[in-house]
Amino acid sequence: MSNSKKRKILITSALPYANGPIHLGHMLEYIQTDIWARFQRLRGHSCIFAWADDAHGTPIMLRAQQEGIEPQELIDNMKAEHERDFQDFLISYDNFHSTHSDENKHFAESIYLSAKAKGNITVKTVKQAYDPEANMFLPDRFVKGDCPKCGTPDQYGDNCESCGAAYSTTELKNPYSVVSGATPIEKDSEHYFFKVSDYIDFLKDWVNGGAIQKEIANKMNEWLDGELNDWDISRDAPYWGFKIPDTDNKYFYVWLDAPIGYIASFKNLCDRNGIDFDEYWRNDTSGNNDTELHHFIGKDIAYFHTLFWPALLKAGDFRIPTAVYCHGFLNVNGQKMSKSRGTFIEARVYLEHLPAEALRYYFATKLSNTVDDIDLNLQDFQQRINSDLVGKVVNIASRCAGFIGKKFDGKLSDQLADQALYQKFIDAGDSIAQAYEERRYSKAMREIMALADAANQYVDEKQPWVVIKDADRQQEVQGVCSLGINMFRALICYLKPVLPELAKKSETFLNAGELNWDSVATPLLSHEINRFKPLMTRIEEEQINAMLEANKKRLAIAATLQAKTGNDSNATEENDSQLSNDPISPTIEYDDFAKIDLRVVKILKAEHVKGADKLLQLTLDLGDEQRNVFAGINSAYDPTDLEGKMTVMVANLAPRKMRFGISEGMVLAAGPGGEDIFVLTPDDGAIAGMRVR
Ligand code: 2FM
Ligand code: ZN
Repeated sequence: MSNSKKRKILITSALPYANGPIHLGHMLEYIQTDIWARFQRLRGHSCIFAWADDAHGTPIMLRAQQEGIEPQELIDNMKAEHERDFQDFLISYDNFHSTHSDENKHFAESIYLSAKAKGNITVKTVKQAYDPEANMFLPDRFVKGDCPKCGTPDQYGDNCESCGAAYSTTELKNPYSVVSGATPIEKDSEHYFFKVSDYIDFLKDWVNGGAIQKEIANKMNEWLDGELNDWDISRDAPYWGFKIPDTDNKYFYVWLDAPIGYIASFKNLCDRNGIDFDEYWRNDTSGNNDTELHHFIGKDIAYFHTLFWPALLKAGDFRIPTAVYCHGFLNVNGQKMSKSRGTFIEARVYLEHLPAEALRYYFATKLSNTVDDIDLNLQDFQQRINSDLVGKVVNIASRCAGFIGKKFDGKLSDQLADQALYQKFIDAGDSIAQAYEERRYSKAMREIMALADAANQYVDEKQPWVVIKDADRQQEVQGVCSLGINMFRALICYLKPVLPELAKKSETFLNAGELNWDSVATPLLSHEINRFKPLMTRIEEEQINAMLEANKKRLAIAATLQAKTGNDSNATEENDSQLSNDPISPTIEYDDFAKIDLRVVKILKAEHVKGADKLLQLTLDLGDEQRNVFAGINSAYDPTDLEGKMTVMVANLAPRKMRFGISEGMVLAAGPGGEDIFVLTPDDGAIAGMRVR
């Protein structure tokens, strides 16, 4: 083992909400965590990675209601979907649990009761928006209205997406509940609060004691030096979560039991694997722990993890985290991920078009230990993979393996042709390890690629393809190529935390068991390797374009569903800065929906409309009649592309008189606007006039 003492580490990633798919913004964090976990294990340490789905809260409750299923079914389905994505991205977690679990209920209750016994809980009356039709209190994100400054409709209660003004929910003009559409009223309710300020001295020490990054500590000090408000930890029924002990209709706020999910997931693993729970989560008598606890999170949730969470742990007599590491947001092509640009990329869509390891490597080249945002530039991504991994790393093996296989029966030479060069590869190990340990992955990748350059340069200079023609210099070729293979092996060893699949294939090729960090110190000499098979292929631009196209379609479908059902899979109770704030519509009753007569129609004619930039005039064939419809799709479609296509229309919309004529219905389209409008096309086999159900 590289370090003399075997460390016992427990690590976590933030828990994804169980009401939406995993996207690449999530994956940045899980990949960052996973690389660290794999690195620690490669060094011979124990590193357990335990986490869960964040399964409570109003958005999950409402989504289940709208889908007509129980919340349990919704979160079970989501969990299965999430785990499939993690596995396909090669995330080596030990347990993925749920916050809606027996273990979590137990720990949430016991931490709360312990805090209560210590006098940290207080009850206060709170005024909150209430939906008189849905009979429920509304989280801020579920009240919308006109911006009080510029009048833009459908704005959230905290700020306007159009003019950027910040205000409070009560200032919204014409406010409405996104649940029922009703005008919210204000209503009093008793809420339970956790007095974080009871732990202020402890927090000041902890925040400034090196467990969190400087820039985050500075931010938290602003809170700690100002007024540290009590934290509202209860929500009124109806709420999807755990009932607060000794109350009738109060539930723990989702953010109370979410981080407790870290403990619950680990406990669930302990119960199955016989790991000693207390060793990881309870303080020993001196207040020290032999074990380590590291949390990886995004900078937007630092407040919860570096103030509330350590205070809660203290209140519950649990151990305090060794460290909390924050990363920045993911941008795509230099801009915030956006649904309208199609860059809000779902993990599954990525996986359907591109290899997991390409993204893992690209993120590694970008990640550091700061909270700076990270840019996924898709052109740079393609170039990096092709030039670094295919062009440099794998290339060394493919250049050397052929000679060893064909000319030397797969046998490597009995000594290194250039001991000093190989020594460079050994010596680089400490610095690369330090970079991994400090989460400076981009530095580690740069150092590894510098070694790859040195290896390629060596093979270039030695020209084995020329020397092989000289019958007297065969051994020289064996020496050069054997060193080449050993240098390749060292690179793979150092890249193994990032590229586990490439490492596995390389281990098969090298035929010498599993690589660990110390393997580099012992090169393979007089050793027989297996036949070389291609290890990695280039990424083509078409793959990236196809991925983006597929993602746009996926987003359009999600937008249509959202428009129909009011479900925003990204809706959270808090304002989530990584996610875009797409609108949620008020729900309608089934009877309203059933009134809509949807029909498959054929677009017979499509023409521009003089004087109306946005419109196309469509002549639609319903089978037994023709209709004239004006559709606002000029920005997305060339009329000639539409003619002859099938689409879906609302056939019983009352005719509307427009400046250019009468519109006799409406065609269905999805998408955010501009070029991204997608006229809905039914499956093959649809006939004009068919009803859509
Ligand atoms: O922001 C989020 O996506 C939350 N679901 C993170 C929870 S992390 C932890 F506290 F559970
Ligand atoms: Zn505004």
